[in-house]
Amino acid sequence: MDITIQTRLATLKKKHNILILAHNYQRPEIQDAADFVGDSLDLAIKATKSNADVIVFCGVSFMAEAAKILNPDKTVVLPDPTATCPMANMVSPTDLRTLKNKHPKAAVLAYINTNAEVKALADLCCTSANGVEMARSIKEQEIIFIPDKNLGHYIQQQVPEKTLILWPGYCHTHQDILPEDITKLKAAHPKAEVLVHPECRPEVIALADHAFSTNGMVSHAKTSQATEFIIGTEQGLCYRLQKENPGKCFYELSKAYCPNMKKITIEKLLNSMETLEPEVHVPDPIMHKAKIPLQRMMDLGRKTP
Ligand code: 13P
Ligand code: SF4
Repeated sequence: MDITIQTRLATLKKKHNILILAHNYQRPEIQDAADFVGDSLDLAIKATKSNADVIVFCGVSFMAEAAKILNPDKTVVLPDPTATCPMANMVSPTDLRTLKNKHPKAAVLAYINTNAEVKALADLCCTSANGVEMARSIKEQEIIFIPDKNLGHYIQQQVPEKTLILWPGYCHTHQDILPEDITKLKAAHPKAEVLVHPECRPEVIALADHAFSTNGMVSHAKTSQATEFIIGTEQGLCYRLQKENPGKCFYELSKAYCPNMKKITIEKLLNSMETLEPEVHVPDPIMHKAKIPLQRMMDLGRKTP
């Protein structure tokens, strides 16, 4: 990274006591600038463990909102407020109320990829790293799972004792990964292990050796005996995988690109660190209600070894 950028980053971090968090899909230069790079769960945990006054969140809006909800006294900044998750926008509070009325006995498990107003109506949140564990922890027999039908399908397979009611949401970036994209790469690299995200189609997950959250892929790649991996998720993760495992090969799917994640640039990051804008605000009543399912997820996670 350019030395003048490095110096500006260090000066601004110190001046405002800033913590920079970056999701695994961020641009390489943003990952390099961050204090921590991680998946949704890891970043939510890091946000609660910091003494920083300001969190600059390099990711999409539901992630920055979650950091704000868990840390209402901190200033949380999202360098581009238009960086949203289209899947999170696929379910509205009205949609969820209608579904709850149809299934009054069901508990609501909300993927963290939901907006704060939707979380405010949920019983428990989960990420792709702990969805199975969170579904198992629910005492009700029926679970409304929003908004990702693919992650919901994956959880249902692992937790057959529960009945999941799925919402037809999906992530374009992962839905566009087709079985033939995997089989073509596998034919070219027959020794490679196939790791995919559970937001992929069930047919794609069926072809994989493992389905993991993005941090799950990072941990697995480090410890696996394999030296080659086909990575079925947004291609930004391959930068971190390659950096942390220089002796191993990672084959990305270049079509798997999240334009919203890539809206955060180094210029926007520096600008946010100078101005502490655009700040993330969640209205108080929503904040209090949305904190309940998020905090429950964090507390349940702490109980499991
Ligand atoms: P992870 O929590 O696994 O990083 O996933 C977040 C996400 O948005 C996947 O598309
Ligand atoms: Fe949302 Fe998909 Fe982008 Fe993840 S990759 S932030 S689920 S659109």
